[in-house]
This record gives sequence, structure tokens and C-alpha cells, in this order.
Amino acid sequence: MCGITACVADDDVVDTVLTGLENLEYRGYDSAGIATLNGAGVRVHKREGGIDELVAEVDGVDLHGEFGVGHTRWSTHGAPTDENAHPHTDCTASVAVVHNGIIENYAELRGELSAAGHLFTSETDTEVIPHLIEDELAAGNPPEAAFRAAIDRLEGSYAIAALVDGTEAIFATRQGSPLVLGVDDGRRFLASDVPSFIEFTSRVVYLHDGDVVRLTPGDHTITDADGDPVSRPVDTVDWGSEDAERGGYDHYMLKEINEQPEALERTINGRITDDGRVALEEFPEGAFDGVSEVHFLSCGTSHHASMYAQQLLRDRGVPAYAFTAGEYATTPAPVSEDTLVVAVTQSGETADTLASLRSANARGARTLAVTNVVGSTAAREADEALFIRAGPEIGVAATKTFSSQVATLTLVIERLVADVTGAPSEDSEAVLSALQELPDLVDRVIRQSTASSLANRYAGSDGHFFIGRGVAYPVAREGALKLKEISYEHAEGFSAGELKHGPLALVTADTPVVAVFSGKHDRKTLNNVEEVRSRGAPVIGVAPESADNVAAAVDEFLAVPETHPDVAGILANVQLQLVSYYEANALNRSIDKPRNLAKSVTVE
Ligand code: G6P
Repeated sequence: MCGITACVADDDVVDTVLTGLENLEYRGYDSAGIATLNGAGVRVHKREGGIDELVAEVDGVDLHGEFGVGHTRWSTHGAPTDENAHPHTDCTASVAVVHNGIIENYAELRGELSAAGHLFTSETDTEVIPHLIEDELAAGNPPEAAFRAAIDRLEGSYAIAALVDGTEAIFATRQGSPLVLGVDDGRRFLASDVPSFIEFTSRVVYLHDGDVVRLTPGDHTITDADGDPVSRPVDTVDWGSEDAERGGYDHYMLKEINEQPEALERTINGRITDDGRVALEEFPEGAFDGVSEVHFLSCGTSHHASMYAQQLLRDRGVPAYAFTAGEYATTPAPVSEDTLVVAVTQSGETADTLASLRSANARGARTLAVTNVVGSTAAREADEALFIRAGPEIGVAATKTFSSQVATLTLVIERLVADVTGAPSEDSEAVLSALQELPDLVDRVIRQSTASSLANRYAGSDGHFFIGRGVAYPVAREGALKLKEISYEHAEGFSAGELKHGPLALVTADTPVVAVFSGKHDRKTLNNVEEVRSRGAPVIGVAPESADNVAAAVDEFLAVPETHPDVAGILANVQLQLVSYYEANALNRSIDKPRNLAKSVTVE
């Protein structure tokens, strides 16, 4: 959902800004642009298309500048055209602005500015910002004061960076959209996300809403909305640029699928004791005493991880509800102070999830963010945070973070159930031991999977249906989501029993049905397999390797190693990730940057 980046140094920053943009392309790829400042005015280059097209365009152009901002766009207001690409400038072309988020009162501001004679050249909400700054400069305000006065007029969510001609600084701020500062000896960086500048520095400052930053070569100041200095710690991220690169893989998605064993190692490392108990530093024994029910708030893949967790809690007798965050933000369920509300979000920045989290906070629930990103808004705004430690995920389609989310939530659940019921769940020991084996088992799935051999046979079918029961149901939903995201094929996931109540009308010999089995409720799902096979649909079964009954009932069998059924869904999901990946690859799709999608959606 748009990426912004910026750099100041005492020498040319053009290559650094372009690299920063390339590293952020997963946030949007409709159009891209760069602006620089070098004492001879503001220079802007921007165009429709991906970063590589921008890079080709500026090749040989003298953009030279010590101050640069860049933007990669996922369109909200206005089509992905050259005109709508950022940076946007004012009437005098002396202010250039990049923005991520939505200015909700832009129509009103635009009307006012147009009436005062400002000329607009794009359809974006962003363009009001440079014109507002222009007005403030014209009123005699110094650049920083002009920047502050302009952002004071904005309503909505934003991360903004601005260049002002004649000023040896970049000004930036955030309100509801992510913005991180990178600190290096002679340089300062700004970006929507750390991977943008991780190859230059691992020292970061997580900015807070309302912070106003002034970057100069080798220095920065952070002030609050009133202009008073605020102190923010410099943290060091514990991963490097190699983690955010593609390595030898054709796609980030395949790399990230393959990274799951090590991601899971990190997720559970130190969180299970030698004698098989949960050891969450953040949640010691008794931490969840008094919790009466759990609400999960999340979107997309994170919602499927939440549905998985909902099932595990219900199986253990704790009321649990997984809500899509967009719905909860507008029509929330009642909460009390005994309700634990868990926002599950890889990025920690998804606007729908943040809106629903804020609703729960405002109504007095106890809130917890389960996220991959340290310093993210969700981690800061929830009462408590727990990190899934999956490492950076660049592919738009979430893979390793689903596995790490489910593993983390399983740990939370075992702690919570022991606290609220007074005793560990019946299967606690077996589940925790299965989690400890999980990295090895996932590794086996990846090494032994035959999913690639199915791709040519089923890619391009009329549609795919995914079915499952219990934890295999959210996995079926996630399998369908993955396939539609990256292959653009029609795919739907259903609880196995529901298929016959309507969707069965769509089942034909050209609609493969992927049936997911965890080792629990399998007999009933096998009945549903019979129903679709008798309508001629080919069935791909994903099940524990000893499930001979499943193997005998399906056309294609993708085995996963034996484990506890509560954990088996994670293994089955890895097979489904591979099915989607190879089908999308057979169709020659843009796997890491699927059309219309963005990794982190920071608008509601
Ligand atoms: C977007 C992405 C999905 C992701 C969802 C939630 O829609 O394309 O892959 O699952 O956002 O993101 P989050 O960062 O909150 O987990």
C-alpha cells in the first residue's frame, strides 16, 4: 500500500533512493517517482509502471542531489498514471511531497486551494499537501513551520516526506501510516518499512504518530506536534539485507516458503521448556487469569491464522471468535474487561486491523498484538505485544508468517487455557512437543512435496474448491486465498460440510477439489470427497502420510508427516502454498507482485 523512502547524505543519494524504492516495491507497483534537491531546484521524475521503468527512465539523467525522496504507489485516489504518480509538487515546483495513506478531507482542501488559484495536475488526495505548504511559505513561514502548519490541516492517515527548495533538510511526519528512520554515520534514511534501507544500516528509530522529523546529513531531530523535542531510542534490527533479498530463488514467495523451518525455529526458540511447558517471557503463568473470552481481529491470511486459533481455543473449552477486522471496526462485538482481544497482523499496519483494535481499546477490552514487526503501530497501540519472529516477508502473498502466526498463537493458547481453566489442556504436552518438531517436519514437506507435478494438470481449470473441517477449514480457506492471489484463478474455500449446501452446483470435472485432512474429523470429510467425486471432480487430498483411507479415495495424494492433528494443519498449508506457487508459475503470473494487491494495506 504505497511505499515512501528518503535519504539525506553529503553526497549524491539518487542510487540510494532508487534502491530503497526497489526494496519497497512489494508495497505497491502501479507507478513510481523520485525527487531530489541539490541547491539548483527540486527535480522530479515519475511515471506509471514499476520501479525498473523509473530506473530506466532516469538512467543518464542528471538528477544529482544530496536530498531525495521516492515513492512506489498502490492507487487509491486516481488511476495509475504518470500524473497521479508521486512525488507531487506545488504551483511553483519548489515543494515535492511523497505520501502513504489517505487524506480524508482532501476534497474540501482542494476546493479551497483551487478557489485561491492553485492549479492541480493530478487526481490524488496527496497533491493538496505541497499546495498547502506553498501557501504557508508564501505567508512568510520558514520551511519547517510551513510543513507543520500544512499537516495541521490534514485529516486521515499519512506518512509524508517533503523537500522544500532552498532548504537543506527533509521534513517528515506520520499519523496512522508507518514511517521508520534509519541512522547511519553520514546519512539518514526514512522509509515505510525497514527493508527499504536495511542494506545501508540496521540502526532504526521507530517513529510515533505525530512525530515531526527533520533530517540533515548525519543528523536528525524529532519533535512532537507542538514542536517540543522528543527522544526516541535507536534500535538495532536483528536481521540483515540477506534476509530481505531473493537469494538464489526465482521468487520471494518460494524463498519464503523454504524459509519456514528456520522461521519456525525462531518463533518457538526459548518459548517451550525442556519439560514441555509454555515459557512465554511476556506471559508468565497466571498472565491470562480471568479472561472469559477471546476475540481475534485480522485480515487476509492473518484472519485464517486467527480462525485456526479460534478452533484450538473452542476445542479447549474457551469461547473464541475470529472476526474480519473490517467488519469489527464498524460493527464490533460487545466486550468487557475480561475479553482478550488479539489483533493478528503480520505488518502491524493494516488499517482495518488497527481500526478494530482501536475500537476494542476504546471500549476497555484487554488488547494484544501478535505481529511480525517490532515497532509497528499495532505493537505500540495494543496493551501487550508478542512477536512471531518470522523475519522479513517480502512476497505479497503471506507464507512463512502464517506458519509462525499459528505456532505463536498455539503457544498463547496453551498458556491461556492453563490459566483460565486451572490446568494445562489435555493435549498440551503432545501439542508442544509437536511444535518443537515442526521445523523438521515442515522441512520434510518442502523437500518431499510432489505439488509441482500437479501444476500443469490443474492450472487453468474452471475453478478450484478447497474443503476441510476443524483446523483444516481455515487451512482450506487459506489455500484458496493463496491460489487466487497469485494465479488469478477462481478458488474458494469451504467448510467441508457446507459444500453440499450450494457450492456443489459449481462442481464439475473441470473444478479440482482440494480436500484437507488433519487426522481429526477425517471420516466426515471423506464423505464430502465422495460427493464431489461422484460429480466427476478430480480430488487432491492433503493428509497425514498414514491416511491410507484418504490416499485410496482421492486422485492425487499430497502427504504430510504424522504429527498432532492441531499442528497438522500447518504442514498441510505448506503443501497448499506449493500447489499455488507451481500453478501460478505454470501460468506465468507475477507471483511476488500480483495485480491489484499490496503487502500492507494501510487504508480502510
Ligand atoms: C493484505 C495482504 C495479505 C495480508 C493482509 C493482512 O491484504 O495482501 O497478504 O494477509 O493484507 O495483512 P497483515 O499485515 O495485517 O497480516
